[in-house]
Amino acid sequence: MPTPVDTPLRLDFPTAERLATQYGTPLYVLSEPLFRQTIRRYKAAFQAAYPKTELSYASKANGSLALLAIAHDEDCLIDVASEGELRGALAAGVPAARCVFHGNNKDVLEIAFALECKIGTIVADNLPEIDHLTSIWRPCSTKVMLRLAPGVDPITHEKIATGQEDSKFGLNISDGAAEEGLRRALAGSLPVAGFHCHVGSQLLNPEAQIAGGEGLAKFAVSMKSRLGYTAEFINLGGGLGIACTEHDRPLDVETYCEKLVARVKRILDEGGLQPILGQEPGRALVGECGLTLYTVGAIKEVPVTGGRRRYVSVDGGLSDNPRPALYGAEYRVESMRPSAEMARATVCGKHCESDELFPNVPLPADIAAGDLLQVPCTGAYNSSMSSNYNRFPRPATVLLRMQGEPALVQRRESWAEMFARENLPDGLRR
Ligand SMILES: Cc1ncc(COP(=O)(O)O)c(C=O)c1O
Repeated sequence: MPTPVDTPLRLDFPTAERLATQYGTPLYVLSEPLFRQTIRRYKAAFQAAYPKTELSYASKANGSLALLAIAHDEDCLIDVASEGELRGALAAGVPAARCVFHGNNKDVLEIAFALECKIGTIVADNLPEIDHLTSIWRPCSTKVMLRLAPGVDPITHEKIATGQEDSKFGLNISDGAAEEGLRRALAGSLPVAGFHCHVGSQLLNPEAQIAGGEGLAKFAVSMKSRLGYTAEFINLGGGLGIACTEHDRPLDVETYCEKLVARVKRILDEGGLQPILGQEPGRALVGECGLTLYTVGAIKEVPVTGGRRRYVSVDGGLSDNPRPALYGAEYRVESMRPSAEMARATVCGKHCESDELFPNVPLPADIAAGDLLQVPCTGAYNSSMSSNYNRFPRPATVLLRMQGEPALVQRRESWAEMFARENLPDGLRR
């Protein structure tokens, strides 16, 4: 491991210019040393707080095969939430036995595929899924966990809040669904290893995860006394936020793990349980390890009440980063060219929505077409949420390897790929 790398990932001008020239923009850039360092730090922090831990990487955050291979190399389990994500892990060389399969509506074919691959764990989300599993189960190495809804309300955008009672995810503890699920799974001889929850994402206040963990721990203790069932695993999910802007103040991972574990462990200790504790972060592992490079294009100013607004258009937008449009996510935007005078501008994309990517950010007053901008903290939920909207090809991804040398890990989508799935029926081709 080389000397620690600063977070979040940032490029100097010569490197940014070299990468932009070689691979084009928009361009996702990831750092291998930073990803490895972040995983190791998270693991060490968790391990320092509790003796028996397990860390998964939530591959939905960024499913680049290179990252999955690195996470596996760093001994993480891989959380997959679809057959596609499972196939991604397999393509990256991750054994299915190291994968954990999530999803609130897994279909029978997905489940059959996962079992055929000998997946390590299936996290059963609801009563019909438990019934289906019991009806098809044959002795095998796969474990089952139950996803529970602990009924906590995370302080985050409603679109990424998942732990509350009114949620499509998990078996509610409060209305008895969780206990019913456990009874059915045990009666059906499913190998239930324990319980799981994930209460939300980009959480800057840890109270929701802690309350969710406490809810799981209390439930596990109560199931021990009521059903004589001993949970071997409790997974507290992901959710730890990152500082995408200077206003975001997440806990450092050491304090977070200490606080989270302390309150959960107290309940487990009192109930005589010593399960393996798991966490399943995505954003906190990869978010700061990636950035996006854009090139500035059209610049215009418009009159607004009390002054003028400057729009700075870049060569990407909604299709490579839908998060601002989806839930108002904010980022820092940095010009690669230093300037003595800064002025506020709204960075917008090329798409047919207003596509205000980064409203009201400070940029050089003399910003000009052709300038490069970097947007740190886009390693999570950017590439994996990208689309072809407006027929924009998905950007390339470059991984900076251990000594900083770039490796192309995903090339820019070609026009041939863009149209590969289409067919013009007879008589429509002219
Ligand atoms: C089940 C589950 N685990 C883990 C995660 C990762 O969350 P985050 O990236 O916020 O850590 C998610 C995200 O939605 C999830 O649904």
